[in-house]
Amino acid sequence: MRRVLVVGGAGYIGSHCVRALQERGDEVVVFDDLSTGHRAAFDCELVQADVRDAIALDRALSQQPFDAAIHLAAKALVGESVARPELYLDVNVGGTSALAHALIRAEVPALVFSSTCAVYGTPQKTPVDEEHPKRPESPYGLSKWLAEQVLEQLSASGRLASASLRYFNAAGAQPDGSLGESHTPETHLIPLALQARLGQRPPLRVFGRDWPTPDGTCVRDYIHVLDLASAHLAALDALVEGAPSGAWNLGTGHGSSVLEVLAAIERQTGEPVPWTDAARRDGDPAAVWACAGLAEQDLGWSAKHTRLDDIVSDAWRWARRPRY
Ligand SMILES: NC(=O)c1ccc[n+]([C@@H]2O[C@H](COP(=O)([O-])OP(=O)(O)OC[C@H]3O[C@@H](n4cnc5c(N)ncnc54)[C@H](O)[C@@H]3O)[C@@H](O)[C@H]2O)c1
Repeated sequence: MRRVLVVGGAGYIGSHCVRALQERGDEVVVFDDLSTGHRAAFDCELVQADVRDAIALDRALSQQPFDAAIHLAAKALVGESVARPELYLDVNVGGTSALAHALIRAEVPALVFSSTCAVYGTPQKTPVDEEHPKRPESPYGLSKWLAEQVLEQLSASGRLASASLRYFNAAGAQPDGSLGESHTPETHLIPLALQARLGQRPPLRVFGRDWPTPDGTCVRDYIHVLDLASAHLAALDALVEGAPSGAWNLGTGHGSSVLEVLAAIERQTGEPVPWTDAARRDGDPAAVWACAGLAEQDLGWSAKHTRLDDIVSDAWRWARRPRY
């Protein structure tokens, strides 16, 4: 049994990590300001505070010794980051640095960090492996890349072991319908398409059908949130057991186009998603999918819930009856 602090544990991916830790018998404390998270998304102690608040962090970490922390708290909207870069650097870099320093003060040895494939920018080649050049194209991507480098320096100095996990596109929900994705505003394709399918929003806008991809729409690597959660546990265990720090891609190694996602939704829900053509968006790469072999090699982790139809059917169960 481990004791784990989950910062950002009230959010979409964080709540699935909390559930996975609890299911195997770990003790969890959530540290979250509830700015985008939900109190109903987890069942354990909450410290409600900002990750940049060093005093609150010290207080939370001084209660009882923790074996490790997972850090998912961030500002995560690419468009907002362009308008407010200072906020993104402050929360995502400053917050990560504040947490890392508090963990060092409290002698917590290991940190698993939520990074993103946005650190790579537009791929020069696919699949994208961890050696791909890091050329983030938004303040959001830059903030995650800078936070990774803060952690890399602290790891190199032997102060704190860390795993930076570069997620591709998180999707899906807890299969029993108890946890899912409820973001305001929602910017992710699958929940947006499901809400359009339910008539809760106007027809989905498909941004460009003239991309250099097989059907002309953008291709992304959708990874089930259950697989993301299991990767966090694998990385956490590896670090606690003394494995070296590093950065790993978390994807399925397979890309799906927007039209393939819409077809999967029609298969799973019995009706088509209403959609309209829209112009390409600046900064959208045509195709992004992961080379996920390093995580398998180093952490013994690979995605298990890789069928797009399974991801969509879990997301659909949640979209029809979200608990929060
Ligand atoms: N969802 C994706 O597809 C995706 C892809 C790549 C990376 N990520 C990263 O994964 C992480 C989690 O994403 P998510 O989709 O679950 O987001 P989310 O918004 O659902 O969860 C983030 C959680 O952090 C909390 N939080 C935000 N700012 C905070 C602060 N200053 N102090 C304390 N708590 C704070 C929020 O209340 C929320 O509970 C983020 O770091 C995000 O950048 C997500």
